[in-house]
Amino acid sequence: MKFYKKPIFTGFAPNLKIQDVFTAVGFLSLPWRWKKLRVGESAAKVEDWLKNYFQTKYAFTFDSGRTALHYALKGLGADYGCEVLVQSYTCVVVINAIKWTGAKPIFVDIDDNFCIDYIDLERKITQKTKILIIQHTFGRPANLEKILEIARERNLKVIEDCAHSFGAKHNGQLTGTFGDIGMFSFGSDKNISCVRGGALITNNDELAKKIADFRSRLPLSRRVKVIQHLWHYPTFSKGKLLYNLWIGKFILAVAKKINLINKIIYQPEKEGRQVLFYPSLLPNALAEILLNQLSRLEKTTKHRQMLAKMYDKEINGDDEIVKPKWSDESVWLRYTLLVKNPQALHASAKRQGIILGNWYDCPVAPKDVDLSATDYELGSCPNDEKLSQMSINLPTDPCITEKDARRIVQLINLWK
Ligand SMILES: Cc1ncc(COP(=O)(O)O)c(C=O)c1O
Repeated sequence: MKFYKKPIFTGFAPNLKIQDVFTAVGFLSLPWRWKKLRVGESAAKVEDWLKNYFQTKYAFTFDSGRTALHYALKGLGADYGCEVLVQSYTCVVVINAIKWTGAKPIFVDIDDNFCIDYIDLERKITQKTKILIIQHTFGRPANLEKILEIARERNLKVIEDCAHSFGAKHNGQLTGTFGDIGMFSFGSDKNISCVRGGALITNNDELAKKIADFRSRLPLSRRVKVIQHLWHYPTFSKGKLLYNLWIGKFILAVAKKINLINKIIYQPEKEGRQVLFYPSLLPNALAEILLNQLSRLEKTTKHRQMLAKMYDKEINGDDEIVKPKWSDESVWLRYTLLVKNPQALHASAKRQGIILGNWYDCPVAPKDVDLSATDYELGSCPNDEKLSQMSINLPTDPCITEKDARRIVQLINLWK
């Protein structure tokens, strides 16, 4: 088919595999599976898998990373009158998870690794600071030695936000196991994904007791939401394949319009308000897809690392195109370049059927959030405000072949 050129995406259900489509379609179409949509043994199996992989005493699944983070914060005592340190260059749902406990988010600037800057961190600690969230952005671990030393000295509780870093290591130790508690997201764009899901891991008995108590009071996910999440699989598998023939774009647009598929962030969340259908438990059907994904973790991670290595070797970096510092232990959820004019590169790539990523193009993403509802003050994190205007992400996910990655390299090397 000469007229057909394979579209390349960064995001757009990047982990989607045929095995997951079969599982999802099975749940949607086989009546005897319907009673297992929400309740079954898979969430407990995921928790056992996590405990074994991270060698922790406790693991808890939730409907999403944002829900998991909220309960981690509550478990550590976030409440009115206390402050939580969090990096900018993050997602609005992280800030909502803090604000809905009553605590105040205090934004800390980022370093050139897109993670929390330990110098600004020290400056922002006050008498009211209780908790520190460490985000391992794009799967590259933050500067843990320095940050944990500060946290110990100042008696701060530590949550690791491993939404981007499932499987990443620092000096051989898995991210998520350094702080008091580790949080993971299994959202559609993450290293391991079931469209929507999240988890916490900890070794702390007292904290685990509190979290178990919070979770025991959560409702099941609504049936209609589970069905919506499952439809994501057949819709995206067809939509992505046929995207460059316009039919795919049409399928995805219609599916969104008629609410056949979910949104990653709903409008009320962008305004700092809660949605009615969350928080809830991780549905059995999504947990089953998650088990498929977990069984492929090593393969997926190796693939991401291989493509990142190719970008690192083959992209001609200079003052105009700055490559990230190499790390063998990163899972490279996205390979993020700094360029002077990312919009021009996005446009140039799009003309060739390549959709590059825009994480994060503002201090609290996505760009259309109501910034006043997040407490972020413009000018408070200058390095973020500079880097977020320059960052552009290249895909590393299992849907991207070496040939696709070469097309991207060629595009960038010829672009300047
Ligand atoms: C850094 C970070 N932390 C936490 C989350 C929350 O994860 P979830 O989408 O599963 O709620 C996200 C979401 O994209 C994120 O980017």
